[in-house]
Amino acid sequence: MILITGATGNLGKATIDFLLRKGVSANNIVALVRDVAKVEELKAKGINIKIGDYDDYTSLTKAFVGVEKLLLVSGSDLEKRGNQQENVIKAAKESGVKHIYYTSFERKNETKTSPIHLVATAHINTENLIKASGMDYTIFRNNLYLDILPMFFGENVLTTGVFLPAGDTKAAFALRMDMAEAIANVLTSEGHENKDYAFSNTENISVPEMAKILSEVVGKEINYVSPPVDVFVDALSDVGVPIEYVKMTADFSEAIRQGEFETFKTDLEKLLGRKPTTVKEFLTQVYS
Ligand SMILES: NC(=O)c1ccc[n+]([C@@H]2O[C@H](COP(=O)([O-])OP(=O)(O)OC[C@H]3O[C@@H](n4cnc5c(N)ncnc54)[C@H](OP(=O)(O)O)[C@@H]3O)[C@@H](O)[C@H]2O)c1
Repeated sequence: MILITGATGNLGKATIDFLLRKGVSANNIVALVRDVAKVEELKAKGINIKIGDYDDYTSLTKAFVGVEKLLLVSGSDLEKRGNQQENVIKAAKESGVKHIYYTSFERKNETKTSPIHLVATAHINTENLIKASGMDYTIFRNNLYLDILPMFFGENVLTTGVFLPAGDTKAAFALRMDMAEAIANVLTSEGHENKDYAFSNTENISVPEMAKILSEVVGKEINYVSPPVDVFVDALSDVGVPIEYVKMTADFSEAIRQGEFETFKTDLEKLLGRKPTTVKEFLTQVYS
């Protein structure tokens, strides 16, 4: 039995669909769902549903009975997810899960000086707890999703251009669907015990290069401006963008500028058996 957490989210849902496409019987898949109102789509596919919340330890131990492989999709609550993920690991161990898989994060700087220290810390602690648990493990070091580019660019990008304090450092953004497909490939094949896989694209592209690609895609010059962080924060706040979102975007842009997401690892390509979706293919899908 394979249990997928975050099964109502983008990555978890897509992983389940790839498992089904690969011939895994719906009977052998369990979806952990915290919100009863969201079970219908999964139920219609014949997936077993277990109601559970990362904050509710007992719900987790009940849900994990009989599970051999457990995919822990990292939580979306940045403040709480360290403790939540610890709950999942302990409950998995207590319930006799053999192999735990975790969607972690690509990074280089593991110190407090990282601009995305809060994001990195929970992932690093979770990886350490998993590795010390005695269960077999596989860690997926997810690079930035290509899917978040339209949010970084903003809805008026085709008129205003790209305004992001990310400098001209390259990064290996990869498509979330490609990551889900690779996770399903790993869950359904052997030999992945105690491995870390980098889920990064095989091309590294800077934001100014992305603006050039976007210009080609839409047939119009799209400028790129990389402002100082304080100018960026003031400009977006002045037009009413919520400050938490502005700060998060600024922090990730700074991390890109510092090279946190530039990698030359080919695990994703190997696990997919093909080249990952490129920035050009993604931007063409979204903007053409
Ligand atoms: N690499 C990147 O660029 C990037 C970008 C964004 C996020 N991420 C990380 O990757 C994860 C997966 O991405 P995604 O796009 O699939 O995110 P998503 O669509 O927000 O899905 C998150 C899933 O986690 C579930 N969840 C959250 N808190 C929970 C809790 N306390 N108990 C049980 N389930 C809980 C959500 O349930 P509900 O449906 O009930 O909310 C949802 O199913 C995110 O959660 C985040 O950690 C990575």
